Amino acid sequence: MQNNIFSGLFVGQNLVTLKEVGSTNNFLKELLSNSKPVAEGTVIMAESQYAGRGQQQNRWFSEAGKNLTFSLLLKPVFLPLMQQFELTRVVSLGVVSALQQATGLPMQIKWPNDIYYGDKKLGGILIENLVQGGQIRNSVIGIGLNINQLDFPADLPGAVSLRQILHRDYDLKIILAEICSHTEAWYLKLKAGKVSEIRKQYLHTLYRLNQAGYFKADELVFKGTITGVRDNGLLIIDTETGEKEFNLKQIQFLINHIPR
Ligand code: BTN
Repeated sequence: MQNNIFSGLFVGQNLVTLKEVGSTNNFLKELLSNSKPVAEGTVIMAESQYAGRGQQQNRWFSEAGKNLTFSLLLKPVFLPLMQQFELTRVVSLGVVSALQQATGLPMQIKWPNDIYYGDKKLGGILIENLVQGGQIRNSVIGIGLNINQLDFPADLPGAVSLRQILHRDYDLKIILAEICSHTEAWYLKLKAGKVSEIRKQYLHTLYRLNQAGYFKADELVFKGTITGVRDNGLLIIDTETGEKEFNLKQIQFLINHIPR
């Protein structure tokens, strides 16, 4: 299907819109497991998800019809498995640059791929790579962004929407088209081997880079400063007991923490 607001070469050119689904990531994975080939750049968008999934087995909640919940298919067969974090970088950069352009607001990437405005979470990304014969055959990239939702449950105090920040409604398809075009541009840079430009821009956009703050790991709260991200995606934090590296399961950012 050709959609004229989708200006890229392939991302978003095949757009499937669903009224309601469990999870767009699961829907796309099921589509891939059927025998018919699915074109790279296919986007599955849902008005409502009843079993939306987040990082680390969390649920993703989104009010029906108010926000963007979609999954995008990439086929980065050119990318060595060891470099799969580059995908996280390009997709996060695609989302951030699209949102910055659409709103004029400065957005940041909270490591590894949360989308932040100030200290609040605007959205998140769930990438599921399907590996076959040592290659990433399919990458299912699920993106959830809070756009027009006005209220969030009390147990999600860190969430924010564009509507809450800018006091206006956004057309979901227009924002989606912007994200598709920016993500495609960053992905094509990766395909062209421009890895150092991608890493530089990812660091430049990183939330809390070079700022002292509090973190929690192994039930221990400590002060530290993010100084970088390893090529493989591990987060580097300079602590009072030296430089340490963390993966997503090991570290928690503490926001507004007051030391005792
Ligand atoms: C996170 O935990 O921050 C990642 C959230 C990812 C949510 C999106 S919504 C569309 C896609 N389908 C899902 O079930 N999850 C992702």
